[in-house]
Amino acid sequence: MPKPVSPAARAAHLRRELQQHIYRYHVLSAPIISDAEYDALYRELQTIESEHPDLTTPDSPTQRVGGAASDKFAKVRHPAPILSLANAFGADDARAWFERIVKLDDRVRAAKLVVEPKIDGLTVVLHYEDGLFVRGATRGDGDIGEDITPNLRTVRSLPLRIPAVGKGPPPRRLVARGEAVIFTDDFERMNAELASTGERTFVNPRNTASGALRQLDPKLTAARPISLLCYSVVEAEGVTLASQWGVLETLSDLGFPTAKNIARRFDSLDEAIVYCESWIDKRDTLDYEMDGMVIKIDDLRLAEELGFVGKDPRGAIAFKFPAREVTTTLNGIGVNVGRTGVLTPYAILEPVEVGGVTVRQATLHNFDYIAEKDIRLGDRVLLKRAGDVIPYVIGPVTEARTGKEKKYRPPQKCPTCGEAVERAEGEVAYYCINAACPDQLIRNLEHFVGKGAMDMEGFGIKIAEQVVAAGLVKDVADVFSLTDERLLALEGFAEKKAANLLAAIDAARARPLQRVIAALGIRGVGEVMAGDLAAHFGSLDALRQADVESLQQIEGVGPNTAEAIVDWFARSGNKRMLDKLKKAGVWPAAASRRAKGGAFTGKVFVITGALPTLSREEAKAYIEERGGKVTDSVSKKTDYLLLGEAPGSKLAKAQSLGVAIIGEDELRALGK
Ligand code: IVH
Repeated sequence: MPKPVSPAARAAHLRRELQQHIYRYHVLSAPIISDAEYDALYRELQTIESEHPDLTTPDSPTQRVGGAASDKFAKVRHPAPILSLANAFGADDARAWFERIVKLDDRVRAAKLVVEPKIDGLTVVLHYEDGLFVRGATRGDGDIGEDITPNLRTVRSLPLRIPAVGKGPPPRRLVARGEAVIFTDDFERMNAELASTGERTFVNPRNTASGALRQLDPKLTAARPISLLCYSVVEAEGVTLASQWGVLETLSDLGFPTAKNIARRFDSLDEAIVYCESWIDKRDTLDYEMDGMVIKIDDLRLAEELGFVGKDPRGAIAFKFPAREVTTTLNGIGVNVGRTGVLTPYAILEPVEVGGVTVRQATLHNFDYIAEKDIRLGDRVLLKRAGDVIPYVIGPVTEARTGKEKKYRPPQKCPTCGEAVERAEGEVAYYCINAACPDQLIRNLEHFVGKGAMDMEGFGIKIAEQVVAAGLVKDVADVFSLTDERLLALEGFAEKKAANLLAAIDAARARPLQRVIAALGIRGVGEVMAGDLAAHFGSLDALRQADVESLQQIEGVGPNTAEAIVDWFARSGNKRMLDKLKKAGVWPAAASRRAKGGAFTGKVFVITGALPTLSREEAKAYIEERGGKVTDSVSKKTDYLLLGEAPGSKLAKAQSLGVAIIGEDELRALGK
């Protein structure tokens, strides 16, 4: 048992600990403890300080807002303090907060309340002058933040220009506040891509967004799929805002992405609490991480008059959700073999419930991560399930070690095929270099038949595993020689299922060249690059003969990718596979030539919102088949904005640039 320590010593210890974690979180973007652990330390210090007020020091973390601005960036003084929020852990806490402020001002009792998600991102403060984005900063210590303007400019959903509110010119000045986040889908996609090229994957969306925005080179920021959600106006000239509800409406009218679709306004605290609680189980349905809801007094004047305590405004409270971090035992470490042969370790856990879901496995990112965190077999580990992201191991609970834990060594042989494992220079990943490795083949096949590639409906991972295990498919081209008879011999296959699958395979024979190129799964060649390669080379025959120099003529193809492409086509297994594809008639004609006469030749489209009948993939294919191009963000070069239900900020941007806005019907009319 450790010796009991005096409150003074404990407070000093907690201050030092917290300071270190604040620095790691805000400056290094590399925390080593979970948010819940941080909260617990912080609350312990708060309790000591409230019981012994004389122990509160001016440099105590409880006395200031967030972390310090780093010296890497120029400093920006915020026009008003960027405040934080006090936490309520459950309904009772929320009621206690409300009672406190009712006592201060009786008008609170009848006040309307706005409830909105508490977004777990990096706070950013965005300055607009005469409608133009002029400056963006991090929160820093709440008074002074870091100037990260060039980095924020790369964030696609950030409006670079905002329109007028109603008639007249855009607001003279507007300072908006929001959270920079990475949407779950984008995060998983980015990590999958990085993993397939043997690069380091990221641990969680929040720290990735924070780290990327605090890079000195904006190109590094631009390489990460950062998005934005705004929720308040710090200062405005030329717009009057009386309520939080009005703030959310105005922000979205101005083209800022917001979480307005989730926000609600209520007449009573009880209703607000019910709404907060209703999101605990639904949090995973959102595409970003939320760690709670925020309850805000709608009337901004009243909220301001209530003042603040320390750094927390009295007019709002964070209704925190139960943390989704638990500890469990690491029973083993498994290894997956990816499409390109990359070996990825994962944790095999003593099953544990986290936020209503039983977790048995979690990602361990890469072998370096295991070594850096000193994660040992048999360790108690801290596990986090955030948003809808795959659960991950934060690190070992070293205090719980018994001495029986074992150090882990990366495998020297591929766990599937037993062939040697190699580590490429400069990469974190280990590779299985056996092209015939069954696991690699399954992943390759999964990619080949998937959306964005050959798109064979109903061809999932289970079937991929079955056909590989049965020896029916030895390379992806073999898919086209599957027959009724062969499929019926597999478990779970009846006439109908076999017929459907064969029909889906048959339909895929007509995929355009760019899809086939994307389907090959060449390292570094995603959908966009496949489109560029198809347009440039016009056929697989031309592409397979291309050399490194000619490939590098294409924008976006660097020396590594060019080499990866040449290497891929040089491998004998791939050559054989391509010959089979050709024989099977899956050898599309030049996409570019066919598209030249298309109705959309030279036109640039942007898609926003959900279209009535076409999926995004389908709309994209429809446009591209007619020679058009689809890009992600609206610019002066955009010809059409294809608009669906619940559009994002692209609409306001298109309007402000005078881009033609069309619906799905008009698209079809134009495309005839
Ligand atoms: S309001 C006076 N609303 O959570 C305004 N904050 O833990 C105070 N946050 O510092 C902030 N979502 O960075 C507000 N919908 C939301 C939020 C939100 C996330 C962040 C914000 C705040 C932190 C407190």
